[in-house]
Amino acid sequence: MELKLEGLEKRYGKKLALDGFSYTFKQGICGILGANGAGKTTMMNLITDNVSRDRGQILFDGKDVLKLGNAFRSVLGYMPQQQGLYDEMSAYSFLLYLAKLKGLQSRAAKAQAARLLSLVNLSDAAHKKLGGFSGGMRQRVLLCQALLGAPKVVILDEPTAGLDPKERVRIRSYIHELAKECIVLWTTHIVSDIESIADDVILMKQGMLVAHGKPHELIDRISGRDLEDVYMHFLGEDDRDA
Ligand SMILES: Nc1ncnc2c1ncn2[C@@H]1O[C@H](COP(=O)(O)OP(=O)(O)O)[C@@H](O)[C@H]1O
Ligand SMILES: [Mg+2]
Repeated sequence: MELKLEGLEKRYGKKLALDGFSYTFKQGICGILGANGAGKTTMMNLITDNVSRDRGQILFDGKDVLKLGNAFRSVLGYMPQQQGLYDEMSAYSFLLYLAKLKGLQSRAAKAQAARLLSLVNLSDAAHKKLGGFSGGMRQRVLLCQALLGAPKVVILDEPTAGLDPKERVRIRSYIHELAKECIVLWTTHIVSDIESIADDVILMKQGMLVAHGKPHELIDRISGRDLEDVYMHFLGEDDRDA
């Protein structure tokens, strides 16, 4: 199973948000590191076809995802960087609603919603309104949503954004557990999020791939101590909190 990006390009006016980006994602967790503005969300938007590309190809197991259409969408799970929740809905009904949109049968939808909520320790809050959920609880519901329908490609755009360190560790371990059999793309500008659980890491800057490899390979390549050193080596001059 592989997801191959070839020469992807996306322009916003004069701004080249993605500049001939090529990479092949395989099964496992790929951490995508880059400062704000590096093009991470643009890449996710092109893969999910929420935004049209100017150039390049995206192939899932050798087939063009645009041609696959619904067949690709049905194997895709997506947790967008910013997403509103329906505050009046319960976590359970929110998941049922999205499961229906994904085309799941009602029985399967109910079983999956309950199972996913239990896996992220939200069974007790399943029937409470989302409006009263903490940031960490909301992120966990969004993660469940991305995993409905047993997707093969899971795209998580800054899944830990806005979480406190404890919640961050928690959601990280859920992702690690839940997304074992999939191709997982996980963007972040927080190195510690993916340190120790990413199988592969790619570093992006100004819409381009600047380095990729297994965490230990990257660390060895620059004779660094950890991924933080790798980040500083390749992306250090970028403003990390821009
Ligand atoms: N809808 C848009 N209109 C104009 N410029 C955009 C739009 N979306 C992204 N950009 C620009 O493209 C670049 C990459 O943005 P983005 O993909 O959101 O980066 P990241 O997710 O890594 O922070 C940035 O310079 C950003 O300002
Ligand atoms: Mg982004």
